[in-house]
Amino acid sequence: MRLTGNILLLGLCSILLSCGETTQPEESFDVTFTVPSNFPAPVYDVSKNPITKDGFLLGKKLFYDGILSKDASISCGTCHIQSSGFTQHGHDLSHGIADRLTLRNTPGIQNVAWKKFFQWDGGVFNLDLFAINPITAHNEMDETLENILTKLRRHAHYPGLFKSAFGSEEITTERFLKALSQFQLMFISSGSKYDKVMRNEGVTFTVEEQDGYSVFKQKCATCHTEPLFSDESFRNTGLAVRNQNDKGRALITLNEKDVYAYIVPSLRNIMITAPYMHDGRFDNIDKVLNHYEKGMIDSPYLDSIFKQQNPAGIALSEQDKTALKAFLHTLTDQEFVQRRMLSEY
Ligand code: HEC
Ligand code: HEC
Repeated sequence: MRLTGNILLLGLCSILLSCGETTQPEESFDVTFTVPSNFPAPVYDVSKNPITKDGFLLGKKLFYDGILSKDASISCGTCHIQSSGFTQHGHDLSHGIADRLTLRNTPGIQNVAWKKFFQWDGGVFNLDLFAINPITAHNEMDETLENILTKLRRHAHYPGLFKSAFGSEEITTERFLKALSQFQLMFISSGSKYDKVMRNEGVTFTVEEQDGYSVFKQKCATCHTEPLFSDESFRNTGLAVRNQNDKGRALITLNEKDVYAYIVPSLRNIMITAPYMHDGRFDNIDKVLNHYEKGMIDSPYLDSIFKQQNPAGIALSEQDKTALKAFLHTLTDQEFVQRRMLSEY
């Protein structure tokens, strides 16, 4: 009797243990792709790359693994840091392999399923293809897809992880990219105070936040359109040209009218993602607001919206600015930047 009992117990333990091993590093989490009720329909067709727990976990491992760079030193997560809304906090231009500088400031990764265009110049329009750019860029990860596939195939764990995610140990570029997308598709940020107010979840703006929201709707929302806070158009905001090689959107379209135009960035989590603008030239929000008010350079490239007043720009009183900042603070989503399932450890 006792013997059987022990054997039973042992059996139970090993079942429990093996369950524990696969689930332990991750607390229970949900990879159901849910569209927040105040968001439009996503652009990405999730049915073509259904998110599974194993696919998500594989994508996550890849995202945080230096194996994607030539000398193993840089992962996607080196430049996209969760606590800073997946930007590279503190760097104007992002730093890649061997501390090489890139052309631009690292944007956050958030709500990517709703994006038609990626990068400041919109040069990539499919999330699944995005990773190829940082991986192969000399100043980011400086690696080739071929080498990555070879390294992953030889790795002790990856073949098994690909099997769990896709049914066989075969490691292909397509599977690799799809796994990375599965992870990033879950970077949904919709838990800010703003969202809760919009969804009538029993939260209200303070008087100052409400004033800021009014100023925002009047002076900013044409381009930073709700609820994603970008209309994904490309515009010139009258910044002095610092790098003539970075022609912005025109690098992609080769169209003169797009010279020095950049995509309208989302303002979600903006108060934790300094520095600002495509080259990170403004290290705080006051400098951005001052630029809109009185720093613009009027040129043939400047967006016509800013030319509606003379001198060009957006009239903002000190009171407007204070209220705007209070409103922008309501766009910070603490739950998102602390969400355990997205974090490296
Ligand atoms: C060296 C720093 C660096 C590394 C490493 C890096 N990125 Fe980025 N990432 C950037 C920069 C800079 C941009 C903006 C590029 C541009 O506009 O030209 C960007 C843009 C993006 C965007 C587009 C965001 C948007 O709103 O347009 C996504 C998605 C992204 N990166 C994902 C990744 C993934 C996945 C990896 C790993 C395979 C990765 N990044 C590795 C710096 C980095
Ligand atoms: C005509 C369109 C337009 C209007 C109006 C506009 N913006 Fe912008 N905004 C942009 C573009 C385009 C950029 C990126 C410019 C660049 O980097 O070259 C930007 C960048 C920003 C950034 C930096 C974001 C980042 O991630 O670096 C902030 C903050 C910002 N805008 C706030 C505002 C506020 C506040 C208002 C209203 C007072 C406003 N914007 C009005 C188009 C606009």
